[in-house]
Amino acid sequence: MEIFLTLLLVLGVIHLVQAQNQQGFINLDCGLPASEPSPYLQSETGLQFSSDAKFIQSGEIATVQSQTNLRNTLKPYMTLRFFPEGTRNCYNLPVDKGRKYLIKAWFLYGNYDSRDIKPKFDLYLGPNLWATVDIQNIEGNSTAQEILHVPTSNSLQICLVKNGITTPFISSLELRPLGNDSYITQFGSLKLRRRIYYTKSENNYIRYPDDAYDRLWNARSLARLTYISTTSDVSNGIYNLPKSVLQNAATPTNASLPWTIEWTRENPDDQFYVYLHFAEIQDLQANETREFSVLLDGNLFANPVIPKKFEITTIQSQYPRTCERENCSLQLTRTPRSTLPPLLNAYEIYRVIQFVQPETNEAEVVALKGIQETYRLIKINWQGDPCVPRHLMWDGLTCSNTTISRPPRVTSLNLSSTGLTGTIAAAIQNLTQLETLDLSNNKLTGEVPEFLGNIKSLLFIDLSGNDLNGSIPQSLQSKGIELLLHGNPRLCQTKSCTKPQSKDFPVVVVATVASVIILIVVLVLVFLLVSRKKNQYTTMQAQQLPSSTTAMLNITNASSHEPLNEIKRRMFTYSEVIKMTNNFQNNLGKGGFGMVYHGFVNGTKQVAVKVLSQFSTQGYKEFKAEVDLLLRVHHTNLVTLVGYCYEGDHLALIYEFLPNGDLKQHLTGKGGRPIINWSIRLGIALEAALGLEYLHIGCTPPMVHRDVKTANILLDDNFKAKLADFGLSRSFQSGIESHDSTAIAGTPGYLDPEYNHSGRLGEKSDVYSFGIVLLEMITNQPVISQTTSENSHITKWVSSKLICGDIIEIMDPNLRKDYDSSSAWRAVELAMSCANPSYSKRPSMSQVINELKECIMCENSRISNNQGLESQAINIGLDSSVVPKAR
Ligand SMILES: *[C@@H]1O[C@H](CO)[C@@H](O)[C@H](O)[C@H]1NC(C)=O
Ligand SMILES: *[C@@H]1O[C@H](CO)[C@@H](O)[C@H](O)[C@H]1NC(C)=O
Ligand SMILES: *[C@@H]1O[C@H](CO)[C@@H](O)[C@H](O)[C@H]1NC(C)=O
Ligand SMILES: *[C@@H]1O[C@H](CO)[C@@H](O)[C@H](O)[C@H]1NC(C)=O
Ligand SMILES: *[C@@H]1O[C@H](CO)[C@@H](O)[C@H](O)[C@H]1NC(C)=O
Ligand SMILES: *[C@@H]1O[C@H](CO)[C@@H](O)[C@H](O)[C@H]1NC(C)=O
Ligand SMILES: *[C@@H]1O[C@H](CO)[C@@H](O)[C@H](O)[C@H]1NC(C)=O
Ligand SMILES: *[C@@H]1O[C@H](CO)[C@@H](O)[C@H](O)[C@H]1NC(C)=O
Ligand SMILES: *[C@@H]1O[C@H](CO)[C@@H](O)[C@H](O)[C@H]1NC(C)=O
Repeated sequence: MEIFLTLLLVLGVIHLVQAQNQQGFINLDCGLPASEPSPYLQSETGLQFSSDAKFIQSGEIATVQSQTNLRNTLKPYMTLRFFPEGTRNCYNLPVDKGRKYLIKAWFLYGNYDSRDIKPKFDLYLGPNLWATVDIQNIEGNSTAQEILHVPTSNSLQICLVKNGITTPFISSLELRPLGNDSYITQFGSLKLRRRIYYTKSENNYIRYPDDAYDRLWNARSLARLTYISTTSDVSNGIYNLPKSVLQNAATPTNASLPWTIEWTRENPDDQFYVYLHFAEIQDLQANETREFSVLLDGNLFANPVIPKKFEITTIQSQYPRTCERENCSLQLTRTPRSTLPPLLNAYEIYRVIQFVQPETNEAEVVALKGIQETYRLIKINWQGDPCVPRHLMWDGLTCSNTTISRPPRVTSLNLSSTGLTGTIAAAIQNLTQLETLDLSNNKLTGEVPEFLGNIKSLLFIDLSGNDLNGSIPQSLQSKGIELLLHGNPRLCQTKSCTKPQSKDFPVVVVATVASVIILIVVLVLVFLLVSRKKNQYTTMQAQQLPSSTTAMLNITNASSHEPLNEIKRRMFTYSEVIKMTNNFQNNLGKGGFGMVYHGFVNGTKQVAVKVLSQFSTQGYKEFKAEVDLLLRVHHTNLVTLVGYCYEGDHLALIYEFLPNGDLKQHLTGKGGRPIINWSIRLGIALEAALGLEYLHIGCTPPMVHRDVKTANILLDDNFKAKLADFGLSRSFQSGIESHDSTAIAGTPGYLDPEYNHSGRLGEKSDVYSFGIVLLEMITNQPVISQTTSENSHITKWVSSKLICGDIIEIMDPNLRKDYDSSSAWRAVELAMSCANPSYSKRPSMSQVINELKECIMCENSRISNNQGLESQAINIGLDSSVVPKAR
């Protein structure tokens, strides 16, 4: 961190100002004693600071041992709150979901505890680590952390977490809403690394009110630089820079030397965003030009840069950059035709922090807080996110494991022996995935509520040892729930109120309907197992697989009934294949590995039958093993394999049929398919990404698709996307593109360029191909252009357009500018980062999914703003029925 409070100590007072517009600012003076007025005006900045007491329930307050005569200037930082109790202590701040905030936390130790041990602890935003605050390794006794972050809910939790023996503390907490068209990132939040402006006046910095967002700009003046300034007006840009930044700049004194700015990275994966602000503030003669190029870590960042006359320009990273070496560098070099050296007014460097841990389902957090309030539960660790990070999970909870696309849910609540009084809290009904509820040995009164029976997932309820009365509601008797009720003397347990009777043993209430269904399912399974033994290829069971998306849940929940009403996924004879395709009458076209025909199974269910050429497989055993695996894959965004045929020379795979063609047709309009709009494209991209994520991390063993392309993304009537042709290439070679047995999997143009070096395709190879698909969806350009030799690959084409910085140039003209440009930008940046030539620098599919959701949110907010029609918005849940049809 390069902002030191010590700066404040040394530098002294800035300006005396009037209070200005501070809309949305939150300024908390942590640990301000109740005896002092709150809010108060800090005269130097004109900021109104308030006590933090309303936003946190724990901690103690203290004052630093001041060695300064600047107590007034530094008033907000003179008191602090420290946290001797508990591991995690959290502030809860009201914010606007989806809005970008600048968040600053200040820490001035000042030996408040007279122990003179400088603490070290972690700072979290919600469930995600933001920074480790380490006063020990800082010159001086203070530091600040600053981040640009978009909260995902209307309440922002800032948590201080012990990570050793020292006690966490905080001096001040400051939030400022930002415009959302600046500091746009692909994913993650931006942690401030450095913010510098160039001015001659040494020993200075600026913040609010000079900077409307209260960014703190450190002044830098170096001997090798020449400083220039102007008193003329310089017009501002979207970054809304302070006047002093607009009117001051520097150039290298020796015009022929490049100007290098260096910073160090902490580890090789660090990703940076860089912002350079400049304006020509000198009056140039007719024969003078200023033109320079910018290299970032040796790679071209911008070229040529020509500062505009009295108008600020900001060059920003379009995607995150890593540094090859320990020291990162920016280098400004004048071009040969330039007569003047490079010029810079100010710059900012941020490191990307990827907040990948999803927060617990918001409705469940509200429910848990409701329960906490109802019972006035005082549990020191009931702070911050209930489920994550796992090591800080609240006492008495268990939560489901998560993937990035599926936030954690509460699966068990145990408040046994915690002195609960009153009735059973109604908020419990909003924990809709609860499996176990233990409220035993408390002093609960009233009746057993009806709503417990409505929580479909509940398997076990322990209400024993309370003082409940009334009878057992009907709803609890209609499911297979294990219900423990003993030790409730006033509870009616006689026959007339129906079961249970036993006082000392668990009472199992099993409804007859449920037991009959279970019996049938068990019988069917037994039957299947027996018949499978008879003919080991005849029956393929639907298997319950780990689910990575909410949509999966429907499938796994339904899976126990599947053998009853779904056609069996199985092996077919060749004569059955002939019959189902009506002797291969209806040819659907050529797919990977063979011709595809339309057909019917059971006379009604439509299928696509892919007839494989014999030489495309390596042998029966490999084929069988692979197909067995595929038969077990279930995901709503993957085309389902219904069965296969292997008889002599005849090989076929039978897939579910999707009537609406493939994505490629819907981009080009080929085959008479309607061209789809931007929001549907984003929805399809998200669904395809979910399918890929499932292959990569959701199924066992994980799979690589190896041939992701627009032609392999099929669409159903509601434009729900399903990936086709996955998982085959290990025992198959592509029989279509080439008959060469050494031919590689994949399609030219989509193939991971690192494949040539490494010779293997991994998950990130799919990410590359997905990036190309995304570029096609954005641009509708050919993946490999036949016409031009330059920029022939779609990534080159997009890069060449990116330099102009005009999104309209990049976007598919068929979209007729009907899209939100920030969602379009994000999509382009995401696609380019997926298509990064370097394998390791590509994001994971889970990160891709998160970013696509953000794109969809941008687009949705435009749609609802423009049309006032909420229903037009794309649903980022997966219910395909709400995806709008193309008009
Ligand atoms: C930091 O605090 C220690 C006492 O805790 C004091 O001796 C030292 O001077 C302080 N350093 C600065 C730079 O203020
Ligand atoms: C500027 O830098 C060049 C290249 O290092 C050097 O040759 C020249 O002497 C320098 N000029 C001045 C005035 O220092
Ligand atoms: C530009 O013209 C001025 C005279 O108008 C002259 O003094 C100066 O040297 C010229 N500069 C360059 C770089 O040619
Ligand atoms: C990185 O820069 C620092 C000073 O900024 C310097 O001391 C160090 O030697 C540099 N390291 C490398 C590897 O260049
Ligand atoms: C959830 O994750 C934890 C820790 O990673 C692991 O111990 C546990 O077995 C997982 N549970 C399930 C159901 O996968
Ligand atoms: C709830 O917690 C208590 C003690 O903390 C434990 O004895 C009991 O078994 C737990 N209940 C369940 C259902 O795990
Ligand atoms: C449950 O959640 C819904 C909306 O999420 C809310 O309207 C309702 O009040 C909640 N019920 C209880 C009892 O907290
Ligand atoms: C249960 O007890 C509560 C008081 O604890 C009383 O108000 C209520 O009427 C009782 N219900 C029944 C059905 O006896
Ligand atoms: C930008 O922020 C404004 C509020 O400051 C909000 O109304 C608008 O929807 C946001 N736009 C996007 C694309 O997030």
